[in-house]
Amino acid sequence: MTDILLFTQALAREAGKLIVDERANAALTREYKNADELVTNADIKADQFICEAIARQFPEHQILSEESSPDIGAVQKITNPLWIIDPIDGTVNYAHGHKHSAISIAYVEDAQTKVGVVYNPFSEELFCTELGKGAFLNGNPISVSIETELRRSLIATGFPYDKSTLAPMIPRLHAVLTNCADIRRIGSAALDICFLAMGRLDGYYESLSIWDFAAARLIAKEAGAECGHFSEVPTGIDPQFYDRDILIANPLIYPLLRALLQETDKAEPTE
Ligand code: IPD
Ligand code: CA
Ligand code: CA
Repeated sequence: MTDILLFTQALAREAGKLIVDERANAALTREYKNADELVTNADIKADQFICEAIARQFPEHQILSEESSPDIGAVQKITNPLWIIDPIDGTVNYAHGHKHSAISIAYVEDAQTKVGVVYNPFSEELFCTELGKGAFLNGNPISVSIETELRRSLIATGFPYDKSTLAPMIPRLHAVLTNCADIRRIGSAALDICFLAMGRLDGYYESLSIWDFAAARLIAKEAGAECGHFSEVPTGIDPQFYDRDILIANPLIYPLLRALLQETDKAEPTE
């Protein structure tokens, strides 16, 4: 295990303790950014804690974090190593007392995600990976499901805070509910993708922000998932960082789910 992975795991665990303690011991404040996006004092505190620890250890590295430095452009102009952080993925779950939220930390070097850690401190499940070395849950290797049929597949997705962008999601939901075994909206994209990586889910699709998926996507890839999109990736954009219409699935289900979503979008174009 490299020093970067060890550092990242320790950091995720410490931040995890912070968010558990914060909810147990302090009054959570709720605020809304961009009108409807919930953010608590714990999101801010965990973000600061993670960013400060990275800046102390690696002062020359860049940081892209949801709450304190959300400059998406940083991904397109990476010069130094870059850390991509979601201090709490699943804030709505967290603020409502659920135990399904995670710290997500990815490390990018030479324009490649090299390390990913996703940690749910409530279930004490730590998913991690290093590029080319497989994916692990609490130290044990994980791999994607071997489900071959859409009608037996469990699919997860999520919905944006911005309700004005919901329209195309309704026909997709109808298509998936009609053609697949069932659907889950569990409330943390990072954990959805890690669940896919270990076979608890067979397919996953959603439009996200980079901090939601940067770590989990590599975990899924290293666990054998096919990671792509069900719409065109614009020219000049690196697909590993493209956040629209993400599709991740076991390789057997991937082409079937992709075709289903593409046919649905073609039949019900929404502009
Ligand atoms: C959200 C969660 C959710 C997804 C949303 C994300 P947050 O992240 O990952 O599952 O559907 O699109 O914004 O706000 O809890 O960090
Ligand atoms: Ca998130
Ligand atoms: Ca978040």
